[in-house]
Amino acid sequence: MHLHKYEKIWLSFGILSLAVFLVIIGVSAFSHNHMPAGGMMTIDPDKVEHTPPFDHPGLVKIDDETYQVSLIAMTFGYEPAKIKVPAGKKIIFKVTSKDVTHSFTIVNTKVNMMVVPGQINTKTYVFQHPGKYLVICNEYCGSGHHFMQTEIEVY
Ligand code: CUA
Repeated sequence: MHLHKYEKIWLSFGILSLAVFLVIIGVSAFSHNHMPAGGMMTIDPDKVEHTPPFDHPGLVKIDDETYQVSLIAMTFGYEPAKIKVPAGKKIIFKVTSKDVTHSFTIVNTKVNMMVVPGQINTKTYVFQHPGKYLVICNEYCGSGHHFMQTEIEVY
């Protein structure tokens, strides 16, 4: 096979940039000790309702500044359906799914987690302002996907 000189230059350039990018990603991942988003906690998706903290989903006060909300995502909603959390406090969201992959996305915030069955995803967030925050699923999870939502009331 004959390759034109310019093709060879472009091919070398492409392969070299790929190698450079992979080295950058590898070095930064190891030097910063990157982990999959939300940690590595696992759970048996068939036993979600019997596994703490998902056996009693909802808000738990950890200390004066910290609260934890455990949530179960399922087709097509979240349990508990209504969540009330205080403003200005650290809220640790722990989310898992008992069926298929969903997401836990609080609109207009940086909270946007994939919810994968068998895994527990965690995200900490502080709501600065009281109000109502819409939570949606942005992973297509079935015929009712577009109805899958809930609301967080921040007081
Ligand atoms: Cu759950 Cu889309």
